Amino acid sequence: AQIEQAEFIKSSSRVEECPMNGYPEFALVGRSNVGKSSLVNSLVRRKQLAMTSKKPGKTQLINHFLINNSWYLVDLPGYGYAIAPRAVRTEWNAFTKDYFLNRKALVCVLLLIDASIPAKEIDIECATWLGQNQIPMAFVFTKCDKRKKRKNGNKRPEENIYDFQNLIREFYQETPPWIMTSSVTNQGRDELLLHIAQLKNY
Ligand code: GTP
Ligand code: MG
Repeated sequence: AQIEQAEFIKSSSRVEECPMNGYPEFALVGRSNVGKSSLVNSLVRRKQLAMTSKKPGKTQLINHFLINNSWYLVDLPGYGYAIAPRAVRTEWNAFTKDYFLNRKALVCVLLLIDASIPAKEIDIECATWLGQNQIPMAFVFTKCDKRKKRKNGNKRPEENIYDFQNLIREFYQETPPWIMTSSVTNQGRDELLLHIAQLKNY
C-alpha cells in the first residue's frame, strides 16, 4: 500500500473545477493548523509537496494530488480560522458541504483532529454533521507525538481521543475507524495507507 508516485494536479475553488476523470478520492478535512498538509507530505514521503505553515489558513483551495496514477489525495482548506469568524465560517460550510454531498468520486473523508489538545467545539460540529449525513469517514488523530506536561490539566493524546469519541458517539450508527498519526514520527502512516487501499479496492 506504499506510495510510489505523487504529483500535484491542480487547485480548485469550486467542486465543478475539480478533476473529472473519476479516480477515487480521499479528502483530508479539519481545523486550520491541524496538520492536513503535513500529513500529505508524510504519506508521500516528501517535505514540500503540500505547502505547510505555522500560521493557520495556509491552504485556501481544493488541492488534488494524484497518487500512484490511480487515486487522489485531496487537501482541503481548514475550518475554524477566521478574522471575521461568522462570514468565513458560513463560506467554508457552503463550499465544503457542496463538496461532501456532491463529489461522486469521494470515497472517504479523513477528518483530522488534533490529539494534543482537547477537541474544539467546531471539530465536534463537523464530526456530528458528517455522521448525521452518513458521509463515509474515518478519524485521523494528528500530532500524537506531542505530549504536553501533565500540569495545568493537560491530557495525553489517548485521553483527548477518548473524550472526543465519547462526545460524538451518539451521532454515528457505527463508530467510524480511527487512526493515531504523527507527521513528525510518521506514526500511523502505514495503517492509514492500508485503510485507504482497502476502501479503494472494495
Ligand atoms: P491549513 O492549511 O492552514 O488549514 O493548515 P494544515 O491543517 O494544512 O496544517 P499544516 O500541515 O500546515 O501544519 C500546521 C502546523 O502544525 C505546522 O507548524 C506543522 O509543522 C505542525 N504539525 C503538523 N503535523 C504535526 C505533527 O504530527 N506533529 C507536530 N508536532 N506538529 C505538526
Ligand atoms: Mg494546509
